Amino acid sequence: MSSSSKVLQHLQSWKFTLSIFLKICLVLPPFLLLIFFFHKVHLYNRTPQFNFNHYIQHYTTNTAPAVDDREPTNISHILFGLAGSVKTWPKRRPYVELYWQPSVTKGFVWMDQNPPENETWPQTSPPYKVSANTSSFNYTCWYGDRSAVRLTRILKESFELGLKNVRWFVMGDDDTLFFPENLVTVLAKYDHNDLYYIGADSESVEQDVIFSYKTAFGGGGYAISYPLAEELVKILDGCVNRYAQLYGGDQKIQACVSEIGVQTTKERGFHQVDIRGSLYGLLASHPVAPLVSLHHVETVDQLFPSSTRVESYKKLVEAYKMDPGRILQQSICHDLQRNWSISVSWGYSVQLYPSLLTAKELEIALGTFQTWKSWSDEPFVFNIRSVSDPCGRPVVYFLDRVESAGGGETRSTYMRYGDVLEKKCNGDNYTATMRVDLVNVTAPRLTRDLWNKAPRRQCCEVMNDSNGVESTVVIKVRGCHRFESVTPP
Ligand SMILES: *[C@@H]1O[C@H](CO)[C@@H](O)[C@H](O)[C@H]1NC(C)=O
Ligand SMILES: *[C@@H]1O[C@H](CO)[C@@H](O)[C@H](O)[C@H]1NC(C)=O
Ligand SMILES: *[C@@H]1O[C@H](CO)[C@@H](O)[C@H](O)[C@H]1NC(C)=O
Ligand SMILES: *[C@@H]1O[C@H](CO)[C@@H](O)[C@H](O)[C@H]1NC(C)=O
Ligand SMILES: *[C@@H]1O[C@H](CO)[C@@H](O)[C@H](O)[C@H]1NC(C)=O
Ligand SMILES: *[C@@H]1O[C@H](CO)[C@@H](O)[C@H](O)[C@H]1NC(C)=O
Ligand SMILES: *[C@@H]1O[C@H](CO)[C@@H](O)[C@H](O)[C@H]1NC(C)=O
Ligand SMILES: *[C@@H]1O[C@H](CO)[C@@H](O)[C@H](O)[C@H]1NC(C)=O
Repeated sequence: MSSSSKVLQHLQSWKFTLSIFLKICLVLPPFLLLIFFFHKVHLYNRTPQFNFNHYIQHYTTNTAPAVDDREPTNISHILFGLAGSVKTWPKRRPYVELYWQPSVTKGFVWMDQNPPENETWPQTSPPYKVSANTSSFNYTCWYGDRSAVRLTRILKESFELGLKNVRWFVMGDDDTLFFPENLVTVLAKYDHNDLYYIGADSESVEQDVIFSYKTAFGGGGYAISYPLAEELVKILDGCVNRYAQLYGGDQKIQACVSEIGVQTTKERGFHQVDIRGSLYGLLASHPVAPLVSLHHVETVDQLFPSSTRVESYKKLVEAYKMDPGRILQQSICHDLQRNWSISVSWGYSVQLYPSLLTAKELEIALGTFQTWKSWSDEPFVFNIRSVSDPCGRPVVYFLDRVESAGGGETRSTYMRYGDVLEKKCNGDNYTATMRVDLVNVTAPRLTRDLWNKAPRRQCCEVMNDSNGVESTVVIKVRGCHRFESVTPP
């Protein structure tokens, strides 16, 4: 090898080193920037629900669960604890099985004793556990039942199972119908690393006065975040004895929660249904919130005329499955050609009024029910509209079916079922409305992110495409336009 070629070789290798060095210099800073950026994004994403312990854990152990912890809450993060008993279960099981999905929903129905040995436990039911013996605890409520002690402790016994990836403990009864998709929508709004107690009070004021407005009523169901459950189980057995005079398990839990100082986060989609008679008025003017639960499925009237209770709830659940977020959501519109008002409760019922009523009026539930304890016409924790004037009543349509209409839309049909609320109005305003026997509603599916925004009732319009068919009204439900309002002329 000549000396010149040696020099060349040397130069070349030096150039090579330099080029590597330059490449590193060029690539590294952006790379570092990228790392910095991801780090920032990570922090930013967590800001609304920042948890220092969790942050430390994530950066010191870098374990898989910590990464998972940033995933949005889904159904697998919820552990249901259902209060059951061997006596009530056979009759209530059909309702629970309407929403229970064996490989999806997690949890147990807690029994007072072992079910009969000669009967195999069905795969379609939640698995059961038998509650621990509670005879050592005090219970002194003279008008109550000491099974309340057992129900109070379901939270503790559920917690002590030590199941992985549980973010929320959701308590309910065996006569509660849950709408799991909407339960997830609601819980996903809250940071499960914080201390949350989420549910709703009773509809009947007389119940809230006795059991406290702060109680998240157990039949409507309530959710307790993991860290709150962790704190509660430490003092729970003490609470059971300290609050021995309290009637219900939900009250004892509330008393215990108040010792920790955590407040009730109220969500209007949980329904204790402390209501007698027909739920119609409430379901036809549901609050603008996802439907999470309905309790007392066995005591209220059937939801649809000429159906049994189980059939009614089955029908509602079928509609819910077509568009979980939209179920029972109200839309109000006017037909200014005919001076009619229309109120849609999606997946359940449509009301037609032969006059122009304000949105303010139509948002108020028709008083088709009584209070829980004294069977009085009021008071409730929301306003009600009287149904006593026959000329103020709507013509009522009930869901017949829902189908996919393509383009992410659904088409639902509502039929007039004889005389439910209308009738005996002597004016002739009803003549034209009574000729309508079908209402067709199209609606886009209501996505979960809409529930993270300020709640607003969606709009609707009366369409002209009924091809002159007087017996059908066609409604299109949609998000409201800017500056759109339900304002009579
Ligand atoms: C729920 O989230 C976890 C992450 O925590 C994920 O591993 C799992 O696949 C999700 N499950 C469903 C049903 O989406
Ligand atoms: C189980 O036994 C009880 C009586 O002990 C009886 O009433 C019931 O019908 C039996 N069930 C079945 C599935 O055999
Ligand atoms: C519960 O415990 C008490 C007292 O220890 C006992 O008398 C009772 O039989 C137990 N009950 C059950 C169902 O095991
Ligand atoms: C239960 O009540 C009795 C009588 O009031 C009392 O003596 C006892 O200490 C109580 N037990 C517990 C565990 O608090
Ligand atoms: C609708 O009401 C307006 C006044 O509010 C009235 O002028 C109009 O004639 C009514 N139209 C019908 C079809 O009744
Ligand atoms: C009948 O309709 C007219 C016009 O829309 C209205 O002024 C009147 O109050 C209605 N009557 C009843 C009883 O609702
Ligand atoms: C229906 O037709 C009337 C006139 O025929 C029109 O004023 C109105 O805007 C139409 N409504 C819709 C929703 O298309
Ligand atoms: C209303 O819906 C029913 C059932 O889907 C359908 O048969 C009918 O043609 C629809 N009517 C109108 C006017 O769209």
